Amino acid sequence: MVLIDGKATANQIKNEIAEEVKAIKSKGERAPHLAAVLVGNDGASLTYVGSKVRSCEKVGFDSSLIRLPEETTEAELLAKIAELNQDDTLDGYIVQLPLPKHIDEEKVLLAIDPKKDVDGFHPSNFGRMALELETFIPATPFGIMQLIERYDIDTQGKHVVVIGRSHIVGRPISILMSQKGAYGNATVTVAHSRTKDLKALTQQADIIVSALGVPGFVTAEMVKDGVVIIDVGITRVEDASKEKGYYITGDVDFDSVAPKASYITPVPGGVGPMTIAMLLKNTLLARKWNS
Ligand code: GUN
Repeated sequence: MVLIDGKATANQIKNEIAEEVKAIKSKGERAPHLAAVLVGNDGASLTYVGSKVRSCEKVGFDSSLIRLPEETTEAELLAKIAELNQDDTLDGYIVQLPLPKHIDEEKVLLAIDPKKDVDGFHPSNFGRMALELETFIPATPFGIMQLIERYDIDTQGKHVVVIGRSHIVGRPISILMSQKGAYGNATVTVAHSRTKDLKALTQQADIIVSALGVPGFVTAEMVKDGVVIIDVGITRVEDASKEKGYYITGDVDFDSVAPKASYITPVPGGVGPMTIAMLLKNTLLARKWNS
């Protein structure tokens, strides 16, 4: 069994990005610049965004954190987005999700200039991805593809079962893995809440990508020997005995599934750290494509 080290791989990618940033700066050009907009005070979002900003510093990017109060109106947020779209010192930005309930997420994502949409959530970027055109691939599926590539996992003709059909993970990863290419060409099944007899599907899967958010959902009896497990679930479970008052766990019952797996991503330390690295990668791509 190979434990896929997302933290080490993410650090390697960040080091590669840092080298490129050095080369850009040595030409007298400004550093790539990523901004993050955070509306409200959601604890998990604050943690993610803080981590994104720190990672920018690590690779030599400029970063801006734009914090807006919980009661920000949709019109105010759209005005901020219009401003960021026009800001020539900014290569890319993200609006951290989820947004407060009174703001229409779809409207906000549509307002982001696709050229600065380093999350890859804008419909035109999602469409470009589906059509295999050059674009920003959303960070989580991009990170999964990088892990598959850097660990040289064979996907040709393999049966991939993706659990979950979210716009951020399940749907895009199912598209990417079925596309032509060295780490594509898989036969993909997308399973979801209406899927009948999921166990029968997962039992014959060569690769399982679980993006459900239910701790311990994938158990040993659901998988075959030699399976590749990509666990995208990140759930905070309250636990008073922990310093932070919670611990982080994935969708996969790691202790029982790992002995049967050929490759497995742990949680934490698997897919999670990759997402920030890929956001930085997208920002570097924005810099290249837009300058
Ligand atoms: N919330 C959880 N994951 C993400 C992400 O990748 N991008 C944004 N903008 N919000 C998120």
